[in-house]
Amino acid sequence: MAILDVEKIRQDFPMFTNRVQMQGKPLVWLDNSSTTFKPRQVLEAMNRYYEFETSNSHRGDYDLSYQADLKIEEARKCVASFLGAKEKEIVFTSGATGGLNLVAYGYALRHLKEGDEILISQAEHASNVLPWFEIAKLTQAKISYVSLDEEGRVTPGNLEKAINEHTKIVSLAHVGNVLGYTHDVKAFAAIAHQHGAIMVVDGAQSAPHMKIDVKDLDCDFYVFSGHKLCGPTGIGALYGKYEILDQTAPFLSGGGMNVKFSCDGQASFLPPPLRFEAGTQNVAGIYGLKAAIEYLQSIGLDKIKAHEEELKRYAIEKLKDCPKVTVYNASSEAGIVTFNIEGIFAQDAATYFNSKGIAVRSGQHCAKMLPSFLNTVATLRASFYFYNSTKDIDILIDAINHAEDYLDAYFI
Ligand code: ALA
Repeated sequence: MAILDVEKIRQDFPMFTNRVQMQGKPLVWLDNSSTTFKPRQVLEAMNRYYEFETSNSHRGDYDLSYQADLKIEEARKCVASFLGAKEKEIVFTSGATGGLNLVAYGYALRHLKEGDEILISQAEHASNVLPWFEIAKLTQAKISYVSLDEEGRVTPGNLEKAINEHTKIVSLAHVGNVLGYTHDVKAFAAIAHQHGAIMVVDGAQSAPHMKIDVKDLDCDFYVFSGHKLCGPTGIGALYGKYEILDQTAPFLSGGGMNVKFSCDGQASFLPPPLRFEAGTQNVAGIYGLKAAIEYLQSIGLDKIKAHEEELKRYAIEKLKDCPKVTVYNASSEAGIVTFNIEGIFAQDAATYFNSKGIAVRSGQHCAKMLPSFLNTVATLRASFYFYNSTKDIDILIDAINHAEDYLDAYFI
């Protein structure tokens, strides 16, 4: 029996029920590592705010505003239970990028000095690289890299080799956004702590697809984005161990995060998490994020993971019969297949897939240090979610098998 009833699940998603097309063909959405579709439950939660509940939070002495305060704290509780954290350890952010920048500028900038090291890998997404480059420039700290193993995975053994007494921050993806390896971040955190460093986890590609328990992982910071787990764009969350959040300065300051300030330039700030939530919050986004998490929980994170692993196995089996295809990550765990078709540049292939109604990502996928490891300039990436089925993969495989004819006629 199938793990999930994909046809039934699709009834919740307007992008499917509205029969959205691309190039006059039914849409085959295989770019879920980039973003995901939103179920009605999420849209309704957001619309309810705009249609019936609009008010600012933490700023009013009337019912509507008080209700917003309560609902935001309910959403924080929901995110905390989703990650296995305490409510006061959850900060709403604009997404994983916002969370990593908060850690970089709020924590690292205050704690690093010349000669300290920040350890990342060549496989990281730009959002887990560029804030560290900036902090290294500002503090004279050094960026170091954990070597990838021969498949492209970050291993505890290689982290052991790269870490040293100067390392203050280890920041790595839980699941890589190109190769889809699920890294042993619990082991990474233990190694980081043995060396007196903190462990930052980029969870953008893990939180949507598996159960997360930050206390079990024992990481110090963990970030994720709402839009990659069926939530709205522009919202995400940062988990930080409370004692470390308490040593973190605000990245943004302004309304809502201060206790008082006066003409002599003195200001005092609220304790975490409100210290990090300056300005009017993305209230509708926060409600949508809660609805998205509840939606995923109603399906079951374990089932979501198992379904995606099944799709991955199916795709890899099918691709074995495509002689012109090179797959770069056949052994990785996540539902991500990264590949190339011999003789066809990845972006030409993606344009051709578009003509068949198929959305895949092509290029370097924001991980611009990885192509040299893969020994290629660009790749194609098909990424699955729980609403994908083997039918979607069959359509992709059929397109791959006809790619050369099409490209001969139109591109070459
Ligand atoms: N981080 C997103 C991706 O990997 C945008 O596609």
